[in-house]
Amino acid sequence: MKSLILFMVSFSLVFGSPVIDSPTKQIIWSDFFGINFQNEFFNVTVAQSQISLIKGLGIEWVRAGFHWAYLESTEGNLRFDLYDPVMNLIGSNGLKSIVTLVGTPDWCSSYNSSTAGNVPMSDTYPPSNNTRFAETMIILSNRYPFVNFWEVWNEQNLVPGFFSPVYSYQLYNDIFQATKTLFSKAGKLSQLAVGGLGYYGYAGTGENMVADLISTKTFEGVLASYHPYTDLPEGGNGQLPSNPYAHVATARYVNSQLSIQGKASQVWCTEYGWSNTGQVTTTIQAEYTIKRLLIDTLVNFDKTFLFTTSDLDGKASSIRDQGYGLVDLMLNKKPVFYSLRNLFSITGSKVDAVSSNEFNSYITSSDLGDDLVGIFFKKTSTNTTLFAFWSPSQSVKSLNLNLFNVSGNLYQVSANNTKFLSAKITSNVISLNVTENVQIFEWPIKDTSSTTPQTSSDVSLSFKLSLNYSLVITLLCSVFFFFF
Ligand SMILES: *[C@@H]1O[C@H](CO)[C@@H](O)[C@H](O)[C@H]1NC(C)=O
Ligand SMILES: *[C@@H]1O[C@H](CO)[C@@H](O)[C@H](O)[C@H]1NC(C)=O
Ligand SMILES: *[C@@H]1O[C@H](CO)[C@@H](O)[C@H](O)[C@H]1NC(C)=O
Ligand SMILES: *[C@@H]1O[C@H](CO)[C@@H](O)[C@H](O)[C@H]1NC(C)=O
Ligand SMILES: *[C@@H]1O[C@H](CO)[C@@H](O)[C@H](O)[C@H]1NC(C)=O
Ligand SMILES: *[C@@H]1O[C@H](CO)[C@@H](O)[C@H](O)[C@H]1NC(C)=O
Ligand SMILES: *[C@@H]1O[C@H](CO)[C@@H](O)[C@H](O)[C@H]1NC(C)=O
Ligand SMILES: *[C@@H]1O[C@H](CO)[C@@H](O)[C@H](O)[C@H]1NC(C)=O
Repeated sequence: MKSLILFMVSFSLVFGSPVIDSPTKQIIWSDFFGINFQNEFFNVTVAQSQISLIKGLGIEWVRAGFHWAYLESTEGNLRFDLYDPVMNLIGSNGLKSIVTLVGTPDWCSSYNSSTAGNVPMSDTYPPSNNTRFAETMIILSNRYPFVNFWEVWNEQNLVPGFFSPVYSYQLYNDIFQATKTLFSKAGKLSQLAVGGLGYYGYAGTGENMVADLISTKTFEGVLASYHPYTDLPEGGNGQLPSNPYAHVATARYVNSQLSIQGKASQVWCTEYGWSNTGQVTTTIQAEYTIKRLLIDTLVNFDKTFLFTTSDLDGKASSIRDQGYGLVDLMLNKKPVFYSLRNLFSITGSKVDAVSSNEFNSYITSSDLGDDLVGIFFKKTSTNTTLFAFWSPSQSVKSLNLNLFNVSGNLYQVSANNTKFLSAKITSNVISLNVTENVQIFEWPIKDTSSTTPQTSSDVSLSFKLSLNYSLVITLLCSVFFFFF
Protein backbone atom coordinates (compact mmCIF):
# COMPACT_ATOMS: atom_id res chain seq x y z
CA MET A 1 0.00 0.00 0.00
CA LYS A 2 2.85 2.35 0.79
CA SER A 3 4.26 2.19 -2.72
CA LEU A 4 0.83 3.02 -4.09
CA ILE A 5 0.58 6.01 -1.79
CA LEU A 6 4.01 7.25 -2.81
CA PHE A 7 3.11 6.75 -6.43
CA MET A 8 -0.03 8.81 -6.09
CA VAL A 9 1.72 11.59 -4.24
CA SER A 10 4.36 11.91 -6.91
CA PHE A 11 1.70 11.62 -9.59
CA SER A 12 0.17 14.83 -8.31
CA LEU A 13 3.47 16.51 -9.19
CA VAL A 14 2.72 15.97 -12.85
CA PHE A 15 -0.30 18.16 -12.39
CA GLY A 16 1.63 20.87 -10.60
CA SER A 17 -0.32 24.03 -11.28
CA PRO A 18 0.20 27.64 -10.42
CA VAL A 19 -1.40 28.92 -7.26
CA ILE A 20 -3.34 32.05 -8.18
CA ASP A 21 -5.69 32.88 -5.37
CA SER A 22 -6.86 35.23 -2.64
CA PRO A 23 -7.84 34.56 0.98
CA THR A 24 -11.49 33.75 1.55
CA LYS A 25 -11.72 36.14 4.48
CA GLN A 26 -10.18 39.27 5.91
CA ILE A 27 -6.75 38.69 7.44
CA ILE A 28 -5.84 40.92 10.38
CA TRP A 29 -2.15 40.22 10.89
CA SER A 30 -2.17 40.78 14.65
CA ASP A 31 -4.91 38.17 14.96
CA PHE A 32 -3.65 35.76 12.31
CA PHE A 33 0.10 35.73 12.82
CA GLY A 34 1.59 34.58 16.12
CA ILE A 35 5.00 33.44 17.24
CA ASN A 36 6.49 30.84 19.55
CA PHE A 37 8.17 32.21 22.62
CA GLN A 38 10.75 30.09 24.47
CA ASN A 39 9.82 31.17 27.98
CA GLU A 40 12.00 28.49 29.59
CA PHE A 41 15.26 29.62 27.97
CA PHE A 42 15.64 33.25 28.99
CA ASN A 43 15.65 35.43 32.07
CA VAL A 44 13.09 38.14 32.56
CA THR A 45 15.31 40.94 31.21
CA VAL A 46 16.06 39.21 27.94
CA ALA A 47 12.49 37.90 27.61
CA GLN A 48 11.08 41.41 28.02
CA SER A 49 13.39 42.68 25.26
CA GLN A 50 12.21 39.88 22.99
CA ILE A 51 8.59 40.70 23.72
CA SER A 52 9.17 44.38 22.98
CA LEU A 53 10.67 43.43 19.61
CA ILE A 54 7.78 41.20 18.57
CA LYS A 55 5.26 43.76 19.77
CA GLY A 56 7.09 46.23 17.55
CA LEU A 57 6.08 44.00 14.63
CA GLY A 58 2.46 44.18 15.79
CA ILE A 59 2.44 40.57 17.03
CA GLU A 60 -0.15 39.90 19.75
CA TRP A 61 -0.24 36.08 20.00
CA VAL A 62 2.51 33.88 21.45
CA ARG A 63 2.86 30.17 22.10
CA ALA A 64 4.79 29.22 25.21
CA GLY A 65 5.38 25.98 27.08
CA PHE A 66 5.87 24.18 30.35
CA HIS A 67 8.08 21.16 30.70
CA TRP A 68 6.34 19.18 33.43
CA ALA A 69 9.45 17.16 34.28
CA TYR A 70 11.22 20.45 35.01
CA LEU A 71 8.29 22.19 36.68
CA GLU A 72 7.62 19.31 39.08
CA SER A 73 10.72 17.12 39.12
CA THR A 74 9.78 16.05 42.62
CA GLU A 75 6.15 15.26 43.26
CA GLY A 76 4.14 18.09 44.75
CA ASN A 77 6.98 20.61 44.55
CA LEU A 78 6.05 22.87 41.64
CA ARG A 79 8.92 25.22 40.83
CA PHE A 80 6.94 28.34 40.01
CA ASP A 81 10.00 30.38 40.94
CA LEU A 82 11.49 29.10 37.66
CA TYR A 83 8.43 30.06 35.63
CA ASP A 84 6.52 32.98 37.12
CA PRO A 85 8.80 35.89 36.16
CA VAL A 86 8.78 35.21 32.42
CA MET A 87 5.24 33.76 32.21
CA ASN A 88 3.87 36.83 33.94
CA LEU A 89 5.40 38.98 31.18
CA ILE A 90 2.83 37.49 28.80
CA GLY A 91 0.10 38.93 30.99
CA SER A 92 1.77 42.22 31.83
CA ASN A 93 2.52 42.89 28.15
CA GLY A 94 -1.09 42.23 27.20
CA LEU A 95 -0.20 39.34 24.91
CA LYS A 96 -2.67 36.59 24.05
CA SER A 97 -1.33 33.07 24.33
CA ILE A 98 -1.56 29.34 23.93
CA VAL A 99 0.58 27.33 26.36
CA THR A 100 1.55 23.65 26.24
CA LEU A 101 2.36 21.20 29.01
CA VAL A 102 4.56 18.29 27.97
CA GLY A 103 7.12 15.86 29.41
CA THR A 104 6.50 13.40 32.23
CA PRO A 105 8.57 13.58 35.41
CA ASP A 106 10.17 10.26 36.38
CA TRP A 107 7.91 9.87 39.41
CA CYS A 108 4.83 9.77 37.18
CA SER A 109 6.29 7.89 34.22
CA SER A 110 4.65 4.88 32.59
CA TYR A 111 8.12 3.64 31.61
CA ASN A 112 8.39 -0.10 32.10
CA SER A 113 11.77 -1.62 31.27
CA SER A 114 10.24 -4.97 30.37
CA THR A 115 8.04 -3.49 27.64
CA ALA A 116 10.15 -0.54 26.50
CA GLY A 117 12.39 -2.57 24.21
CA ASN A 118 15.41 -0.52 23.24
CA VAL A 119 13.78 2.83 23.98
CA PRO A 120 15.48 4.34 27.04
CA MET A 121 13.59 5.99 29.86
CA SER A 122 12.77 9.61 29.15
CA ASP A 123 10.15 12.27 29.76
CA THR A 124 8.44 11.30 26.49
CA TYR A 125 6.68 8.34 28.11
CA PRO A 126 3.06 9.15 28.87
CA PRO A 127 2.16 9.61 32.54
CA SER A 128 1.32 6.54 34.63
CA ASN A 129 -1.59 8.58 36.00
CA ASN A 130 -3.23 10.95 33.51
CA THR A 131 -5.29 12.60 36.21
CA ARG A 132 -2.06 13.86 37.78
CA PHE A 133 -1.15 15.44 34.46
CA ALA A 134 -4.62 16.96 34.16
CA GLU A 135 -4.43 18.36 37.68
CA THR A 136 -1.19 20.14 36.82
CA MET A 137 -2.87 21.65 33.74
CA ILE A 138 -5.65 22.96 35.98
CA ILE A 139 -3.15 24.38 38.49
CA LEU A 140 -1.40 26.21 35.64
CA SER A 141 -4.64 27.53 34.16
CA ASN A 142 -5.60 28.91 37.57
CA ARG A 143 -2.20 30.43 38.19
CA TYR A 144 -1.98 32.14 34.77
CA PRO A 145 -5.57 33.19 34.07
CA PHE A 146 -4.46 35.50 31.25
CA VAL A 147 -3.54 32.47 29.07
CA ASN A 148 -6.20 31.91 26.39
CA PHE A 149 -5.61 28.25 25.47
CA TRP A 150 -4.01 25.23 27.16
CA GLU A 151 -2.53 22.59 24.93
CA VAL A 152 -2.28 18.94 25.98
CA TRP A 153 1.24 17.70 25.10
CA ASN A 154 3.13 18.47 21.88
CA GLU A 155 3.91 16.48 18.70
CA GLN A 156 2.57 13.29 20.27
CA ASN A 157 2.66 11.60 16.85
CA LEU A 158 6.46 11.73 16.75
CA VAL A 159 8.00 8.62 18.32
CA PRO A 160 10.27 8.51 20.23
CA GLY A 161 11.01 12.28 19.98
CA PHE A 162 7.84 13.30 21.81
CA PHE A 163 6.05 10.06 22.70
CA SER A 164 7.37 6.64 23.76
CA PRO A 165 7.86 3.80 23.33
CA VAL A 166 5.47 3.32 20.37
CA TYR A 167 2.94 5.32 18.35
CA SER A 168 -0.38 5.28 20.21
CA TYR A 169 -3.23 7.63 19.52
CA GLN A 170 -5.22 5.71 22.16
CA LEU A 171 -2.71 6.48 24.92
CA TYR A 172 -2.60 10.11 23.80
CA ASN A 173 -6.38 10.27 23.74
CA ASP A 174 -6.42 8.94 27.33
CA ILE A 175 -4.24 11.86 28.47
CA PHE A 176 -6.44 14.26 26.55
CA GLN A 177 -9.73 12.88 27.91
CA ALA A 178 -8.46 12.97 31.51
CA THR A 179 -7.59 16.64 30.99
CA LYS A 180 -10.86 17.35 29.23
CA THR A 181 -12.79 15.93 32.20
CA LEU A 182 -11.12 18.37 34.60
CA PHE A 183 -11.37 21.32 32.21
CA SER A 184 -15.10 20.61 31.73
CA LYS A 185 -15.64 20.50 35.49
CA ALA A 186 -13.81 23.81 35.82
CA GLY A 187 -15.91 25.38 33.04
CA LYS A 188 -12.77 25.86 30.92
CA LEU A 189 -13.48 23.53 28.03
CA SER A 190 -13.34 26.37 25.51
CA GLN A 191 -9.69 26.90 26.51
CA LEU A 192 -8.56 23.36 25.72
CA ALA A 193 -6.38 22.43 22.74
CA VAL A 194 -5.21 19.08 21.39
CA GLY A 195 -1.40 18.98 21.29
CA GLY A 196 0.05 20.34 18.06
CA LEU A 197 0.86 17.41 15.78
CA GLY A 198 4.24 17.22 14.07
CA TYR A 199 4.15 17.84 10.32
CA TYR A 200 0.65 17.16 8.91
CA GLY A 201 -0.03 14.49 11.54
CA TYR A 202 2.14 11.82 9.93
CA ALA A 203 4.06 9.47 12.17
CA GLY A 204 7.37 8.11 10.93
CA THR A 205 5.80 4.63 10.96
CA GLY A 206 3.08 5.46 8.44
CA GLU A 207 0.12 6.33 10.66
CA ASN A 208 -1.60 9.70 10.54
CA MET A 209 -2.68 11.01 13.90
CA VAL A 210 -5.05 13.59 12.39
CA ALA A 211 -7.06 10.68 11.04
CA ASP A 212 -6.71 8.58 14.19
CA LEU A 213 -7.78 11.36 16.55
CA ILE A 214 -10.74 12.18 14.30
CA SER A 215 -11.81 8.54 14.79
CA THR A 216 -11.71 9.00 18.59
CA LYS A 217 -13.56 12.36 18.31
CA THR A 218 -10.70 13.97 20.20
CA PHE A 219 -10.92 17.27 18.29
CA GLU A 220 -14.65 17.82 18.83
CA GLY A 221 -15.30 21.30 20.15
CA VAL A 222 -11.65 22.07 20.89
CA LEU A 223 -8.71 23.70 19.17
CA ALA A 224 -6.72 21.57 16.71
CA SER A 225 -3.24 22.40 15.46
CA TYR A 226 -0.26 20.99 13.63
CA HIS A 227 3.26 21.92 12.52
CA PRO A 228 3.61 21.78 8.73
CA TYR A 229 7.39 22.02 8.53
CA THR A 230 8.56 21.42 4.97
CA ASP A 231 11.82 21.89 3.11
CA LEU A 232 10.40 24.66 0.97
CA PRO A 233 7.68 27.16 1.79
CA GLU A 234 5.45 25.77 -0.96
CA GLY A 235 5.83 22.16 0.19
CA GLY A 236 8.15 19.33 1.03
CA ASN A 237 10.57 17.22 -0.92
CA GLY A 238 11.78 14.29 1.12
CA GLN A 239 8.73 14.25 3.37
CA LEU A 240 5.07 13.43 3.14
CA PRO A 241 3.41 14.97 1.24
CA SER A 242 6.40 14.51 -0.99
CA ASN A 243 5.51 17.22 -3.43
CA PRO A 244 7.44 20.46 -3.52
CA TYR A 245 4.22 22.42 -4.11
CA ALA A 246 1.81 20.43 -1.94
CA HIS A 247 1.39 22.67 1.10
CA VAL A 248 -1.63 24.55 -0.23
CA ALA A 249 -3.59 21.46 -1.20
CA THR A 250 -2.53 19.39 1.81
CA ALA A 251 -3.17 22.08 4.42
CA ARG A 252 -6.55 22.90 2.87
CA TYR A 253 -7.46 19.24 2.93
CA VAL A 254 -6.25 18.58 6.49
CA ASN A 255 -7.92 21.78 7.71
CA SER A 256 -11.25 20.84 6.20
CA GLN A 257 -10.97 17.34 7.67
CA LEU A 258 -10.24 18.78 11.10
CA SER A 259 -13.13 21.20 11.03
CA ILE A 260 -15.77 19.18 9.13
CA GLN A 261 -15.09 15.58 10.21
CA GLY A 262 -13.17 16.38 13.38
CA LYS A 263 -15.50 19.26 14.41
CA ALA A 264 -12.56 21.19 15.82
CA SER A 265 -13.51 24.66 17.04
CA GLN A 266 -10.51 26.22 15.29
CA VAL A 267 -7.51 25.01 13.30
CA TRP A 268 -4.12 26.62 13.81
CA CYS A 269 -0.66 26.12 12.49
CA THR A 270 1.26 26.40 15.77
CA GLU A 271 4.78 25.99 14.37
CA TYR A 272 6.44 26.65 11.07
CA GLY A 273 9.82 28.04 10.19
CA TRP A 274 13.33 27.47 8.90
CA SER A 275 16.59 27.39 10.80
CA ASN A 276 19.77 29.08 9.72
CA THR A 277 21.89 26.62 11.70
CA GLY A 278 22.29 23.67 9.39
CA GLN A 279 19.32 24.30 7.12
CA VAL A 280 19.27 27.57 5.14
CA THR A 281 20.96 30.98 5.19
CA THR A 282 19.44 33.84 7.18
CA THR A 283 18.45 35.46 3.87
CA ILE A 284 16.59 32.37 2.73
CA GLN A 285 15.04 31.98 6.17
CA ALA A 286 13.55 35.43 5.66
CA GLU A 287 12.28 34.68 2.16
CA TYR A 288 10.72 31.35 3.11
CA THR A 289 9.06 32.77 6.21
CA ILE A 290 7.33 35.49 4.19
CA LYS A 291 6.27 33.09 1.45
CA ARG A 292 4.73 30.61 3.88
CA LEU A 293 2.92 33.35 5.77
CA LEU A 294 1.41 34.60 2.50
CA ILE A 295 0.45 31.06 1.45
CA ASP A 296 -1.08 30.35 4.86
CA THR A 297 -3.60 33.15 4.27
CA LEU A 298 -5.12 30.86 1.59
CA VAL A 299 -5.58 27.57 3.42
CA ASN A 300 -8.15 28.31 6.13
CA PHE A 301 -5.96 28.35 9.18
CA ASP A 302 -7.44 30.53 11.89
CA LYS A 303 -3.91 31.44 12.95
CA THR A 304 -0.34 30.58 12.03
CA PHE A 305 2.62 30.74 14.42
CA LEU A 306 6.23 31.12 13.41
CA PHE A 307 8.90 29.13 15.24
CA THR A 308 10.37 31.16 16.94
CA THR A 309 11.13 34.52 18.61
CA SER A 310 14.79 34.03 19.40
CA ASP A 311 17.67 31.76 18.49
CA LEU A 312 18.42 29.31 21.28
CA ASP A 313 21.61 28.27 23.01
CA GLY A 314 23.03 24.78 23.58
CA LYS A 315 20.06 23.84 25.78
CA ALA A 316 18.05 23.40 22.56
CA SER A 317 17.57 19.77 21.61
CA SER A 318 19.60 20.07 18.40
CA ILE A 319 21.93 22.44 16.57
CA ARG A 320 19.16 23.01 14.07
CA ASP A 321 16.75 24.07 16.83
CA GLN A 322 19.15 26.87 17.75
CA GLY A 323 18.68 28.88 14.54
CA TYR A 324 14.94 29.50 14.05
CA GLY A 325 14.80 32.94 15.71
CA LEU A 326 13.75 36.38 14.49
CA VAL A 327 16.62 37.61 16.62
CA ASP A 328 19.89 36.04 17.66
CA LEU A 329 21.05 35.39 21.21
CA MET A 330 22.38 38.97 21.44
CA LEU A 331 18.92 40.27 20.42
CA ASN A 332 20.24 41.39 17.03
CA LYS A 333 17.47 41.38 14.45
CA LYS A 334 17.93 38.85 11.68
CA PRO A 335 16.79 39.45 8.05
CA VAL A 336 13.52 37.62 8.78
CA PHE A 337 12.65 40.32 11.29
CA TYR A 338 13.13 43.09 8.71
CA SER A 339 11.26 41.17 6.04
CA LEU A 340 8.23 40.76 8.29
CA ARG A 341 8.38 44.43 9.19
CA ASN A 342 8.53 45.31 5.51
CA LEU A 343 5.67 43.03 4.63
CA PHE A 344 3.40 44.56 7.25
CA SER A 345 4.37 48.08 6.28
CA ILE A 346 3.49 47.35 2.64
CA THR A 347 0.19 45.62 3.41
CA GLY A 348 -0.92 47.62 6.43
CA SER A 349 -2.43 45.92 9.45
CA LYS A 350 -5.02 43.94 7.51
CA VAL A 351 -5.80 42.68 4.04
CA ASP A 352 -9.07 41.68 2.44
CA ALA A 353 -10.14 39.11 -0.13
CA VAL A 354 -10.31 39.81 -3.85
CA SER A 355 -12.99 37.87 -5.74
CA SER A 356 -11.87 35.28 -8.27
CA ASN A 357 -13.79 37.11 -10.99
CA GLU A 358 -11.80 40.19 -10.24
CA PHE A 359 -8.36 38.62 -9.98
CA ASN A 360 -8.89 36.53 -13.10
CA SER A 361 -9.50 39.75 -14.99
CA TYR A 362 -5.99 40.92 -14.09
CA ILE A 363 -3.95 37.94 -15.17
CA THR A 364 -3.51 36.15 -18.49
CA SER A 365 -2.94 32.44 -18.95
CA SER A 366 0.26 32.70 -20.97
CA ASP A 367 1.95 34.23 -17.92
CA LEU A 368 1.39 31.22 -15.71
CA GLY A 369 4.10 28.64 -15.38
CA ASP A 370 3.85 25.46 -13.38
CA ASP A 371 4.99 26.86 -10.11
CA LEU A 372 4.02 30.49 -10.05
CA VAL A 373 2.53 31.65 -6.78
CA GLY A 374 0.39 34.78 -7.05
CA ILE A 375 -1.77 36.03 -4.20
CA PHE A 376 -4.20 38.93 -4.45
CA PHE A 377 -5.21 41.09 -1.52
CA LYS A 378 -7.24 44.22 -1.14
CA LYS A 379 -5.75 46.90 1.08
CA THR A 380 -8.78 48.78 2.31
CA SER A 381 -6.88 51.53 4.10
CA THR A 382 -5.60 52.84 0.76
CA ASN A 383 -8.13 51.34 -1.69
CA THR A 384 -5.40 49.51 -3.48
CA THR A 385 -4.99 45.97 -4.77
CA LEU A 386 -1.84 44.09 -3.77
CA PHE A 387 -0.46 41.24 -5.84
CA ALA A 388 2.26 39.18 -4.13
CA PHE A 389 4.07 36.91 -6.57
CA TRP A 390 7.09 34.70 -7.06
CA SER A 391 8.28 31.68 -9.00
CA PRO A 392 10.04 29.13 -6.74
CA SER A 393 11.93 27.50 -9.63
CA GLN A 394 12.19 30.72 -11.63
CA SER A 395 10.61 28.89 -14.55
CA VAL A 396 8.44 31.96 -15.05
CA LYS A 397 10.47 35.03 -15.96
CA SER A 398 7.78 37.62 -16.38
CA LEU A 399 4.04 38.06 -16.23
CA ASN A 400 1.56 40.59 -17.51
CA LEU A 401 -1.20 42.19 -15.50
CA ASN A 402 -4.14 43.54 -17.46
CA LEU A 403 -4.19 47.02 -16.02
CA PHE A 404 -5.04 50.10 -17.95
CA ASN A 405 -4.09 53.65 -17.16
CA VAL A 406 -3.20 53.21 -13.49
CA SER A 407 -0.17 54.05 -11.40
CA GLY A 408 1.45 51.12 -9.67
CA ASN A 409 4.17 50.54 -7.12
CA LEU A 410 6.42 47.51 -6.97
CA TYR A 411 7.95 46.43 -3.65
CA GLN A 412 10.60 43.90 -2.80
CA VAL A 413 9.79 42.50 0.61
CA SER A 414 13.30 41.29 1.38
CA ALA A 415 14.99 44.65 0.94
CA ASN A 416 13.53 46.92 3.58
CA ASN A 417 10.40 47.97 1.78
CA THR A 418 12.18 49.13 -1.31
CA LYS A 419 9.67 50.64 -3.63
CA PHE A 420 11.75 50.25 -6.75
CA LEU A 421 9.22 50.94 -9.40
CA SER A 422 6.49 53.49 -9.54
CA ALA A 423 5.02 53.64 -12.96
CA LYS A 424 2.07 55.03 -14.82
CA ILE A 425 0.76 52.28 -17.03
CA THR A 426 -0.44 53.64 -20.32
CA SER A 427 -0.78 50.46 -22.34
CA ASN A 428 -3.21 47.63 -21.61
CA VAL A 429 -0.80 45.57 -19.59
CA ILE A 430 2.14 45.93 -17.32
CA SER A 431 4.91 43.39 -17.60
CA LEU A 432 6.54 42.46 -14.31
CA ASN A 433 9.76 40.55 -13.93
CA VAL A 434 9.15 37.50 -11.80
CA THR A 435 11.83 36.44 -9.36
CA GLU A 436 12.37 33.68 -6.86
CA ASN A 437 11.75 36.26 -4.14
CA VAL A 438 8.49 37.82 -3.09
CA GLN A 439 7.55 41.03 -4.85
CA ILE A 440 4.34 42.94 -4.32
CA PHE A 441 2.73 45.09 -6.97
CA GLU A 442 0.20 47.63 -5.79
CA TRP A 443 -2.29 49.65 -7.78
CA PRO A 444 -5.48 51.54 -7.02
CA ILE A 445 -8.70 49.55 -6.99
CA LYS A 446 -10.34 50.29 -10.28
CA ASP A 447 -13.56 52.17 -10.01
CA THR A 448 -16.44 51.21 -12.27
CA SER A 449 -15.85 54.03 -14.75
CA SER A 450 -12.45 52.64 -15.78
CA THR A 451 -13.34 48.93 -15.75
CA THR A 452 -12.02 47.21 -18.82
CA PRO A 453 -14.29 44.46 -20.14
CA GLN A 454 -13.19 40.92 -19.34
CA THR A 455 -11.88 39.17 -22.43
CA SER A 456 -12.99 35.68 -23.36
CA SER A 457 -9.51 34.28 -22.72
CA ASP A 458 -9.71 35.47 -19.13
CA VAL A 459 -12.93 33.59 -18.62
CA SER A 460 -11.56 30.34 -19.94
CA LEU A 461 -8.45 30.85 -17.85
CA SER A 462 -10.37 30.79 -14.61
CA PHE A 463 -12.10 27.63 -15.71
CA LYS A 464 -8.84 25.91 -16.57
CA LEU A 465 -7.27 26.89 -13.30
CA SER A 466 -10.04 25.52 -11.19
CA LEU A 467 -10.13 22.31 -13.19
CA ASN A 468 -6.42 21.81 -12.82
CA TYR A 469 -6.53 22.62 -9.15
CA SER A 470 -9.36 20.22 -8.47
CA LEU A 471 -7.30 17.45 -10.05
CA VAL A 472 -4.55 18.04 -7.53
CA ILE A 473 -7.03 18.06 -4.69
CA THR A 474 -8.69 14.87 -5.86
CA LEU A 475 -5.39 13.08 -6.03
CA LEU A 476 -4.34 14.24 -2.61
CA CYS A 477 -7.69 13.26 -1.17
CA SER A 478 -7.33 9.74 -2.45
CA VAL A 479 -3.91 9.61 -0.87
CA PHE A 480 -5.33 10.69 2.44
CA PHE A 481 -8.29 8.38 2.34
CA PHE A 482 -5.92 5.46 2.67
CA PHE A 483 -4.99 6.88 6.04
CA PHE A 484 -8.42 7.99 7.16
C1 LIG B 1 19.98 37.73 31.73
O1 LIG B 1 20.63 36.98 30.73
C2 LIG B 1 21.57 37.74 29.99
C3 LIG B 1 22.05 36.89 28.83
O2 LIG B 1 22.44 35.64 29.28
C4 LIG B 1 22.69 38.19 30.93
O3 LIG B 1 23.64 38.96 30.22
C5 LIG B 1 22.08 39.03 32.05
O4 LIG B 1 23.08 39.33 32.98
C6 LIG B 1 20.98 38.26 32.74
N1 LIG B 1 20.29 39.17 33.63
C7 LIG B 1 19.92 38.82 34.85
C8 LIG B 1 19.21 39.86 35.64
O5 LIG B 1 20.15 37.70 35.28
C1 LIG C 1 5.86 -4.07 33.29
O1 LIG C 1 5.36 -4.88 32.27
C2 LIG C 1 5.32 -6.24 32.60
C3 LIG C 1 4.95 -7.01 31.34
O2 LIG C 1 3.72 -6.51 30.80
C4 LIG C 1 4.36 -6.44 33.74
O3 LIG C 1 4.33 -7.80 34.11
C5 LIG C 1 4.80 -5.61 34.93
O4 LIG C 1 3.84 -5.68 35.98
C6 LIG C 1 4.97 -4.17 34.53
N1 LIG C 1 5.54 -3.40 35.61
C7 LIG C 1 4.96 -2.33 36.11
C8 LIG C 1 5.70 -1.64 37.22
O5 LIG C 1 3.88 -1.92 35.73
C1 LIG D 1 -4.23 9.20 40.06
O1 LIG D 1 -4.16 10.52 40.52
C2 LIG D 1 -5.36 10.93 41.13
C3 LIG D 1 -5.25 12.42 41.42
O2 LIG D 1 -4.05 12.74 42.05
C4 LIG D 1 -5.60 10.10 42.39
O3 LIG D 1 -6.81 10.51 43.00
C5 LIG D 1 -5.70 8.65 41.99
O4 LIG D 1 -5.79 7.84 43.13
C6 LIG D 1 -4.48 8.25 41.19
N1 LIG D 1 -4.69 6.93 40.65
C7 LIG D 1 -3.85 5.94 40.90
C8 LIG D 1 -4.19 4.62 40.26
O5 LIG D 1 -2.85 6.09 41.56
C1 LIG E 1 -2.82 21.93 -16.01
O1 LIG E 1 -1.62 22.55 -15.69
C2 LIG E 1 -0.54 22.10 -16.48
C3 LIG E 1 0.69 22.74 -15.92
O2 LIG E 1 0.47 24.05 -15.54
C4 LIG E 1 -0.81 22.46 -17.92
O3 LIG E 1 0.25 22.00 -18.75
C5 LIG E 1 -2.10 21.80 -18.38
O4 LIG E 1 -2.41 22.20 -19.67
C6 LIG E 1 -3.23 22.17 -17.44
N1 LIG E 1 -4.42 21.40 -17.74
C7 LIG E 1 -5.59 21.95 -18.02
C8 LIG E 1 -6.70 21.00 -18.24
O5 LIG E 1 -5.73 23.15 -18.02
C1 LIG F 1 -12.09 53.83 -0.69
O1 LIG F 1 -13.15 53.71 -1.59
C2 LIG F 1 -14.42 53.85 -0.99
C3 LIG F 1 -15.50 53.57 -2.03
O2 LIG F 1 -15.14 54.12 -3.28
C4 LIG F 1 -14.54 55.25 -0.39
O3 LIG F 1 -15.77 55.39 0.25
C5 LIG F 1 -13.41 55.44 0.61
O4 LIG F 1 -13.42 56.76 1.11
C6 LIG F 1 -12.07 55.16 0.00
N1 LIG F 1 -11.04 55.19 1.02
C7 LIG F 1 -9.86 55.78 0.85
C8 LIG F 1 -8.89 55.68 1.99
O5 LIG F 1 -9.58 56.35 -0.17
C1 LIG G 1 -6.04 58.07 -17.62
O1 LIG G 1 -6.40 58.50 -16.31
C2 LIG G 1 -6.43 59.88 -16.17
C3 LIG G 1 -6.78 60.17 -14.70
O2 LIG G 1 -5.84 59.54 -13.87
C4 LIG G 1 -7.46 60.51 -17.09
O3 LIG G 1 -7.40 61.91 -16.97
C5 LIG G 1 -7.15 60.10 -18.51
O4 LIG G 1 -8.18 60.54 -19.36
C6 LIG G 1 -7.04 58.59 -18.63
N1 LIG G 1 -6.64 58.23 -19.95
C7 LIG G 1 -7.30 57.37 -20.68
C8 LIG G 1 -6.75 57.12 -22.04
O5 LIG G 1 -8.30 56.79 -20.28
C1 LIG H 1 17.24 46.71 6.74
O1 LIG H 1 17.43 47.82 7.60
C2 LIG H 1 18.19 47.56 8.75
C3 LIG H 1 18.25 48.81 9.59
O2 LIG H 1 16.99 49.37 9.72
C4 LIG H 1 19.57 47.07 8.35
O3 LIG H 1 20.31 46.74 9.49
C5 LIG H 1 19.43 45.84 7.47
O4 LIG H 1 20.69 45.42 7.02
C6 LIG H 1 18.57 46.15 6.27
N1 LIG H 1 18.35 44.91 5.50
C7 LIG H 1 18.44 44.91 4.18
C8 LIG H 1 18.21 43.57 3.54
O5 LIG H 1 18.67 45.90 3.53
C1 LIG I 1 12.60 43.65 -16.16
O1 LIG I 1 13.90 43.25 -16.47
C2 LIG I 1 14.42 43.91 -17.61
C3 LIG I 1 15.75 43.27 -17.95
O2 LIG I 1 16.53 43.10 -16.81
C4 LIG I 1 14.54 45.40 -17.32
O3 LIG I 1 15.03 46.08 -18.45
C5 LIG I 1 13.16 45.94 -16.95
O4 LIG I 1 13.25 47.28 -16.57
C6 LIG I 1 12.55 45.14 -15.83
N1 LIG I 1 11.19 45.56 -15.65
C7 LIG I 1 10.68 45.84 -14.46
C8 LIG I 1 9.25 46.25 -14.44
O5 LIG I 1 11.33 45.79 -13.43
